[in-house]
Amino acid sequence: MDRLSSPARLMIVSDLDHTMVDHHDAENLSLLRFNALWESNNRHDSLLVFSTGRSLTLYKELRKEKPMLTPDITIMSVGTEITYGKSMVPDEGWAKILSQKWDRDIVKEEASKFSELKPQAETEQRPHKVSFYVEKEKAQEVMKVLAERLEKRGLDAKIIYSGGIDLDILPQGAGKGQALAYLLKKFKSEGKLPTNTLVCGDSGNDAELFSIPEVYGVMVSNAQEELLQWHAQNAKGNHKIIHATERCAAGIIQAISHFNLGPSISPRDAMDFTELQLEHVNPGHEIVKFYLFYERWRRGEVENSESYYASLKSVCHPSGGFIHPSGEELSLYDSIDKLKKCYGDRQGTKYRVWIDRLLPTRISNDAWLVRFDKWETSGEERQCGVVSTLLRSKVADSLSDLLWEHVHQTWLDGYAAKDNNSWML
Ligand code: GLC
Ligand code: MG
Repeated sequence: MDRLSSPARLMIVSDLDHTMVDHHDAENLSLLRFNALWESNNRHDSLLVFSTGRSLTLYKELRKEKPMLTPDITIMSVGTEITYGKSMVPDEGWAKILSQKWDRDIVKEEASKFSELKPQAETEQRPHKVSFYVEKEKAQEVMKVLAERLEKRGLDAKIIYSGGIDLDILPQGAGKGQALAYLLKKFKSEGKLPTNTLVCGDSGNDAELFSIPEVYGVMVSNAQEELLQWHAQNAKGNHKIIHATERCAAGIIQAISHFNLGPSISPRDAMDFTELQLEHVNPGHEIVKFYLFYERWRRGEVENSESYYASLKSVCHPSGGFIHPSGEELSLYDSIDKLKKCYGDRQGTKYRVWIDRLLPTRISNDAWLVRFDKWETSGEERQCGVVSTLLRSKVADSLSDLLWEHVHQTWLDGYAAKDNNSWML
């Protein structure tokens, strides 16, 4: 949370399954489009929050399967667990608040009296969340009777039905909406309330997100019946909430555009790579565009032309250097020559590249130091380089026309490359 010294320009709070992540998109294209947009335009001044029903265990599994960015804040187990940063430091204060008027043994005891309720996996039973499966037809009745019985036992609990199958029982003060309200309050007290907040969801446990005052909301096109129904009954006239016509992450991009929350064209949708110069003084854009070109070059999706090669060289400082994780050094020009030879070496494969955790630091009137994680996957295998780059303007005392002057890469622990061409940029 301390990453930004001023209020975030935009905070996106998004559900994962069937919202940020499309399980029907085997190529993950909408997610990759969102990632490129976020790292090139938002990472430096905005906050990304993932709010999921998953426990840490299942969240980690999803991260291995899908090309997901690293969020600034992670809200897991349906708003009952909040952590900060890449190292996922837990918010102990939130856990303490939730422990008031909560007794999970009573919840388990009462729930066990319903044969319709089938317990979920042990990993999904959390200190402030007890979870079951229940068929759609039986859900309403079970929820009604269970709520009465819990109340009789003096418990203030909340029951949420999601995806037409999952039933979660939480403390009354928990849930995705309450967790967001808690975060907003925290930001406000620090004078860092985000200028805009956009919440994104598809199912029942996301409904609460849309009832937080002042936030924009997008229900993705593939939203579940229970969320659309909730919206029809509770938020129909609210113009700050839309039902997107696009699925999952593409629906989120649609909402950014609809509500004018900043640039909304993903670099992945801008096909012109001859124009490798910066349009805005935003080094993130430069980096993301370069590696998109790199991906398309190796997939053989751009033309193998001398003009691309020349424009790549034109953004490198003539005496610029590259330090490989092995310690080997070569000039940026040599590195571009190696890239040239790898045209189409990943043609017809699932090869993808995405940038994560891009952090630009302005170090002088005409230079930026930019660190980022560069992920590459071929489907099953993944590699990740932690990269530092020095970008300097061609024009003295200006931040336009940036040239790559120096690149230094190390492997992220556990993600070293096994492939021979890995010593390219
Ligand atoms: C995720 C969780 C599950 C929960 C569901 C709906 O799938 O793993 O425990 O019931 O979200 O909130
Ligand atoms: Mg979902």
